[in-house]
Parts: sequence; structure tokens; C-alpha cells
Amino acid sequence: MSVEMSKYLQELAKKQEELKVKIKKDHWRLAYHLMPTTGWMNDPNGLCQLNGTYHFYHQYGPASATGEDVIHWGHKTSKDLVHFQDEEIFLYPNHSYDRDGVYSGSALVKDGKIHFFYTGNVKLEGDHDYTFSGREQNTVHVVSEDGFKINSQKVVIPHATYPKEFTNHIRDPKVFEKNGEYWMLLGARTRDNEGKIPLFKSNDLDDWSYQGNFFGDDFSLGFMWECPDFFEVDNQEVLVFSPQGVNGSDFEFQNVYQSGYMLGNVDWQQAKFKQSGKFIEFDRGFDFYAPQTFEDEQGRRILIAWMGIGDTMPEYSYPTANKGWQHAATLPREITVTKGKLYQKPLKEYEVLRCREEKYHYEKSLKNEQFLKGEVYEMCIEILEQGNFAIKMREDTVLQYNNGVLTLQHGPSGFGRNKRQIELKELEKIQLFMDKSSIEIFINDGEYVMTSRFFPKNGCDFIEFTGDAHLLIKKWNLNKAISTKD
Ligand code: FRU
Repeated sequence: MSVEMSKYLQELAKKQEELKVKIKKDHWRLAYHLMPTTGWMNDPNGLCQLNGTYHFYHQYGPASATGEDVIHWGHKTSKDLVHFQDEEIFLYPNHSYDRDGVYSGSALVKDGKIHFFYTGNVKLEGDHDYTFSGREQNTVHVVSEDGFKINSQKVVIPHATYPKEFTNHIRDPKVFEKNGEYWMLLGARTRDNEGKIPLFKSNDLDDWSYQGNFFGDDFSLGFMWECPDFFEVDNQEVLVFSPQGVNGSDFEFQNVYQSGYMLGNVDWQQAKFKQSGKFIEFDRGFDFYAPQTFEDEQGRRILIAWMGIGDTMPEYSYPTANKGWQHAATLPREITVTKGKLYQKPLKEYEVLRCREEKYHYEKSLKNEQFLKGEVYEMCIEILEQGNFAIKMREDTVLQYNNGVLTLQHGPSGFGRNKRQIELKELEKIQLFMDKSSIEIFINDGEYVMTSRFFPKNGCDFIEFTGDAHLLIKKWNLNKAISTKD
């Protein structure tokens, strides 16, 4: 290790110790969601499973909770996707081609090795807008035999070789194998301010040739598309991306940036994705962005997203920025497609965290004492007889079903988050995961999901049902699953 690097690591360790002192006192730390050990987390990266071990890498600024640190790749591993352990930082921004950030990317497991592809971000000195000039985004290939040690690392698409139609925003490689060839999608912004997904092809994972745009025909979807993904599940091809600059409508596209998918078909001769359905948001809450999927060794398609979004200010904020850490990841969700509709379900594995089952029958005519309580729990609600109803939880969070509209609303504990709504003719089932400062609501077996961070006062464990519906409720407290090295 160079003298420079060992000095850098010493200084980093010192800053992390300072952050850990604050983190220890924070009651908003999550019990079973992935969080940064210290500092900042954003997108999930390099998701894969190798020889039974799940690897979760993520955008990581270990030395600052406010997002000022240069981005690294943090690393956590798991045997069951529920209990994770902290690992050493996997990628450092310590090369000329990634000195201003080891940006997002993906993993491909092939012949017992993991091939990672990421974007090396470089900001040049001088007077630049960093969109049209002054930025390089190099595509880098890393090979590892175990997911911990790096065997090789090199630039495979240097910034200067991208087609001229793109601005300096061209990044987030997603690599997959199809018909015996390797394909890479990138997320890009053109010089005409349109989002596109440029496609590259390779036979050896090192030598990549440009194939035109895989998709870029929907001009209503903003100026920049980040974090593309593509997969097949249940005989359906699905394209995923996170567009910026989409106009909101009554209930949809309410967040500053979006993340969603389109069902469609690929013409592999032309290497073009043709959409068969419209762009649909994965999540209808406040805090969900940059999802990534992977296929695990059981053949399941699993999605994990950043349980946060950039640039939410001045609308809403994340007060843990003052407590030594910021942001988290969503629960892993299994993706399936049935009858042309995509569903997201929490993994069955999470049932191991359940303890202390309680059952409760809610009917207006019964005397409804408030006896359910909790801060960290799972709750399943079956709607036996339709009707309007509301559930008040924690400090001031309300989930309400009223005349065909489902509303999630926060009071002051939302730190600016007010309400998000879904038009929903039929509501049959709700599966809700409550953590110390997050809520994930799976509706009708994953037909819709609402994910939100919120920050109630310590000890707020209120749960109350009101309304005319007839409900069957099961609730479990959930055990702690996440331990970080302190
Ligand atoms: C998405 C994103 C990616 C980029 C990374 C940088 O949140 O902006 O496009 O690679 O974050 O941290």
C-alpha cells in the first residue's frame, strides 16, 4: 500500500470514529434495513450472489453524512438477504480515471468470477458547467474472484470515445449476457436534453462497440435517464430506468425524480427495446430511487433501491444528516410478472424476524380499544368488508383509504413530506413494514408499493384503526437484523 493511501485510510478512520459517536446516540437508526456504517449512502451497486453469498455494494461517502465526501463503493454481505455484515470498502476513488467518484454500476457473475462495471467520474479544473463540458465518465471493468479482492481493474470505454450526441452525463453501466454475447446499457443525457439508453456489445467484456440507443423514444420522460436495467422475468422483458425532468400529474410522478419500468419486447437483430406498456413508477411513496435488480442462485429476480432521492430540498429533508449518517436501502423485493402486470413482494426470508404475533379484528360496531403498539413491526391487513378506514401510526403518520383513494400522510415527523396518493378501485390487502424511521407498504400483494422515510420522536408507538371497513389484522414485532461494526 502506498504511503499516500495509508495516510488517507488513517484520516478516514478518524473521521468515521467521530461520526460513530453521534450515530450511537441516534434513535432513528434502522433495525432491519441496510444503512451506511457511517456517513452517506445512495444507489445500490453490483448486486449479485456468488457461491451462496449475497453481495450488496453501494454508493458510499464514509466520511460525511451530508454527501460532501467523494463516492466510494461500500460493501455488505449476507447469507440470507436479511442479516448483513459490514465489509471493507470495495472501491476507492484513487485513480486518475475515477478520482471524483466511483459512480454506480453492476455485476455479472461468470465462470465463478464477478465482473463489475462502474463509472469513473472525473471533474476537470476550470470554468465548466459539468454537463456540456468539464466532466469525464469512464466505464471501468473490475474482476474479482471472491467479491472482496480486486484481481484486475481497467478502463474499457474511455470518456472521449462516447458518441458526440451525448453530454458529459453518460454513466451507470448495467451488463448482461444474451444470445452468447455481452450487452451494456448506459444512462445518458443528449445534447438536445433528452434521456436515452445507449447500448454497447462485447464478446470478451473488455472490447465494447456502440450499437445505437437501446431505447430513447419516449420524449415525455425528461432530460436525463440514470441507472438503466434490463431483465426477463416470467417470459416478460422489462426495461428499468430513473428519469429526471418528468412532469407530475394528479397522483403520479410526484417526486423530484422518478424510477420506473416498461414492459416490452427486444428485437435483438436491431438491438432495440419496443415498449408494450407505459412507463410505470415502481413506488408511490417519497423515498425510492435508482433501483437495481439481479437474479439470485434460486433464479429469483430481486430488486433493491436507494430508500432516498437526491435534491428533495426544499420540499423535504433527512434529519439524520446531523446524526452521523444519511440514507438507507429498501428491503429486497422479489419481482414477478402475472397477466401483464409487475408485482413487488417482500422476500419470504424476512419472516424469520417475526416475533410476538398479535391478531386483531377491527369492526366499527365492536369496541375498539387501542391495544396494538409498536415501533418496529410487520403488519398484514386483510380487508374483509370494503369501507373507508384509517390507520394512525407512530407520531403522526396516517394511511387512509377513502372513496377509492389510498393516502399516506405524514405530519411534522415527515420533515416536509406531506402526502402521496394512489387511485385504487379495489383494496384487498396491505402488508406494512415499519422500522424506526421508515415505512414500506405493499398493497394487494405488491401491485403497488409506497416507501417513505419519516422521523418520529423516540418511543412513539401508537397504532389506531378507525372507519367503517371490516379488517383482519396480524402484527409481529420484528427483531433487529442489522449490526454494524462499531
Ligand atoms: C443516481 C446517481 C447515478 C450516479 C450516482 C452517483 O442516484 O446520480 O447516476 O452514478 O448516483 O453517486
